Amino acid sequence: MKKVTVSATKEYDVVIGKGLLEDCGKMIVKTVGKSNAAIITDDIVDSIYGEKVEKSLCECGIKVSKFVFKNGEESKNLETYCEILEFLAENKLKRNDIIVALGGGVVGDIAGYAAATYLRGIKFVQIPTTFLAAIDSSVGGKTAVNLKAGKNLAGAFHQPSLVICDTQTLETLSADRFADGAAEAIKYGVLDGEELFEKIASGDYIAEIEDIIAKCVEIKAEVVKNDEFDTGMRQLLNLGHTIGHAIEKCSNFEITHGHAVALGMLYISRAAYKLKLVEKDISDKILNALIKNNLPVSCSFSPEELSEAAGSDKKRNADTINFIIPKDIGDCVIKPLNPQDLLKIISAGM
Ligand code: NAD
Ligand code: GLY
Repeated sequence: MKKVTVSATKEYDVVIGKGLLEDCGKMIVKTVGKSNAAIITDDIVDSIYGEKVEKSLCECGIKVSKFVFKNGEESKNLETYCEILEFLAENKLKRNDIIVALGGGVVGDIAGYAAATYLRGIKFVQIPTTFLAAIDSSVGGKTAVNLKAGKNLAGAFHQPSLVICDTQTLETLSADRFADGAAEAIKYGVLDGEELFEKIASGDYIAEIEDIIAKCVEIKAEVVKNDEFDTGMRQLLNLGHTIGHAIEKCSNFEITHGHAVALGMLYISRAAYKLKLVEKDISDKILNALIKNNLPVSCSFSPEELSEAAGSDKKRNADTINFIIPKDIGDCVIKPLNPQDLLKIISAGM
């Protein structure tokens, strides 16, 4: 078992290990006390892990209610969010009660946003069940839902009180959903350096998954400690995301976040070299890492479609869009670029 402590507005532990779900009740009581809990989860995760988590909480004397919504990005919207708030109120959750977000990034983001706003904020615990949620979305306190205009346009910073990552849950993920997490792991590799990058790029790391998750969480914890509210270096974690979000949007969310970010990283690394923003071409390294991790290397949208979608990305700062430019493995920079150059950048990347 491994533990990483995140120091933000609030300090909390990310506990990573095999078979932790059975003891999640005890871990939660130890951290937040014996309050009532609302489990928020999706239908697939509920069918596999709902009972186990509920049992563990009940055995510790926690009174549990459970809200289950349809799995998938299309549920990460204001409608589901409002249904969750109404559910919490109907079940009389109080200020000292907690939300338990059991699932992938969609569950974590929407349940976290409900926790941030219900009664002006209650505590929540993240129990990530996807590789992506384990290494990224469950840590750092970004919570959100999508609006029609784009991804994550309504949300709040609200740190969890505890993150319990049971690596055994990753065993029931499909290859495609595992690959979504691999895309974010490749991102951490590009940000951090050769050692982690080469390990992930090999596609051969499942035996070391606990160490990999802990390493990625450590990287994220360090970034969040220095820039919790995303005004500076935290933006580095958005490597591949501007084009990635555009791909998700153009596909009407048929292309998942991880797959889209994978393409976004490939396109921006290619564009950066072709447009002479960097001296070194690392796009082939990224391409090979994507192939080894069963991730896509092309998509069917035109540069025009993607640049239009990227133009409405929320990370657009007044007259500029902050792109994360990989100069080398382990060396990325934030570069404000002119939105008028979006088409040129995306065309060069594809
Ligand atoms: P997801 O939550 O939609 O989960 C993917 C699918 O896997 C779903 O169908 C789900 O039911 C299923 N699933 C989950 N756990 C499972 C398990 N153990 N076994 C079998 N099936 C399982 O998607 P995701 O990739 O986990 O998360 C993507 C979301 O995370 C996006 O909305 C993205 O914007 C968000 N995100 C947020 C942050 C953040 O910092 N808040 C960071 C990265 C991504
Ligand atoms: N996944 C981006 C962030 O947490 O900032």
